[in-house]
Amino acid sequence: MKVLIVGGGGREHALVKAVARSAHHPEILCAPGNGGTEMLAENVAVAAEDVEGLCKLARDRAIDLTVVGPEVPLCAGIVDRFEASGLRIFGPSRSAARLEGDKAYAKKLLAEARIPTAIGRSFDRYEYAREYIATRDSAQVVKAAGLAAGKGVVVCDDPSDALIEAERMMVEGKFGEAGRCIVVEEKLEGEELSIHAIIDGRSVYVLDASQDHKRLWDGDTGSNTGGMGAYSPAPRADAAVMSMVESEVLVPILDCLHRHDVDYRGVLYCGLMITHAGPKVLEFNCRFGDPESQVLLPRLKTDFVDIAQACIDGKLDGCEIEWDPRPAVCVVLASGGYPGTCEVGKPIEGIIEAGALENVTIQHAGTLREHDGWVTDGGRVLSVTALGDTLAQAHDRAYEAVKLISFEGMQYRTDIAHRALGSNVS
Ligand code: AMP
Ligand code: GLY
Repeated sequence: MKVLIVGGGGREHALVKAVARSAHHPEILCAPGNGGTEMLAENVAVAAEDVEGLCKLARDRAIDLTVVGPEVPLCAGIVDRFEASGLRIFGPSRSAARLEGDKAYAKKLLAEARIPTAIGRSFDRYEYAREYIATRDSAQVVKAAGLAAGKGVVVCDDPSDALIEAERMMVEGKFGEAGRCIVVEEKLEGEELSIHAIIDGRSVYVLDASQDHKRLWDGDTGSNTGGMGAYSPAPRADAAVMSMVESEVLVPILDCLHRHDVDYRGVLYCGLMITHAGPKVLEFNCRFGDPESQVLLPRLKTDFVDIAQACIDGKLDGCEIEWDPRPAVCVVLASGGYPGTCEVGKPIEGIIEAGALENVTIQHAGTLREHDGWVTDGGRVLSVTALGDTLAQAHDRAYEAVKLISFEGMQYRTDIAHRALGSNVS
């Protein structure tokens, strides 16, 4: 059996590792992959956005199953393209992926399905956005409706800043076409949770909750990033939260999609804010989170290939999904300058030593194999993930491993999982 993983970040390395554990012993290809995926897979130099190139690769190499990591190819319709060529692929179709690719559409469906979310409006004309923002007297969040590489959301504590952001996006074209239409919504306060579900069109399997750390610095301060670390399970997601998310978010959004003739298959990620008034949806993503995958997939005991196949065939209800109950903590090691411009090509020390620690796994993101070692090749360089009998033990193990790794300019947060562990972590 041959499996192709599309993408080249920490999430994709976690996917490669999960597929490598499969009882089907597949041959794995990763496009384009990174310096870590090539230890288990054959990296092929086709970009994750190159849908035609990937389709050709899958045909030429007789790939049996393709698993897509990032949102860009999903929103561009990679699943429809592969299926039209008779290729098996795990992920939502283009119309289903619109839940992530068009925030104005997602907001419309949230309203239609009466799912709790921030009060807001969508605009495709700047004059109307300006009029609306002028009537707001509390903090607002301005979001480019289209895909903007995780940078399209600006939280404006002063509503007059929202006006400036709306102008930058809609008039000055800060995010190109992605920002010509925007969503303006109230700023919600609370703790964020990431809840993933695997959906086969009918059955919904909700995964353990995780929490991401989006800000660059300790104490959730500094710039927004792609994610500086994660942990799972997240104790904040108690039984009441999980059952609410299933019955008041997942089931209604899937019913709503069905009414629009959209069949959702693949992973659906709900970004939630746990407010005083209960959980509210911040966003939907049509794929696994990064770095959430780095804590979810190492805990997955069931064969991931079987889950993906069952999902494609609409047979998830016949699939027993088993988890390692032990918590996982992931610490992201980033290059100096991240999330801005980073210098790359810095030699990395200690990866082998850290990865050799018991219950530790290292997922590469921005690395390149050079000679016998690795050099940095991007903003987020490595995810260092550990499992423990307790969250505290997972945390301590992850940081023990982090201490063995070094490269020039390396930055990381020292307080991953602080909300769950109390503030006494360092
Ligand atoms: P999104 O891509 O919509 O999830 O936004 C990225 C990040 O922006 C979220 O993870 C939150 O940290 C923040 N965010 C988005 N919407 C809101 C909101 N309505 N209130 C507060 N923070 C928000
Ligand atoms: N960790 C946030 C995301 O994957 O969108």
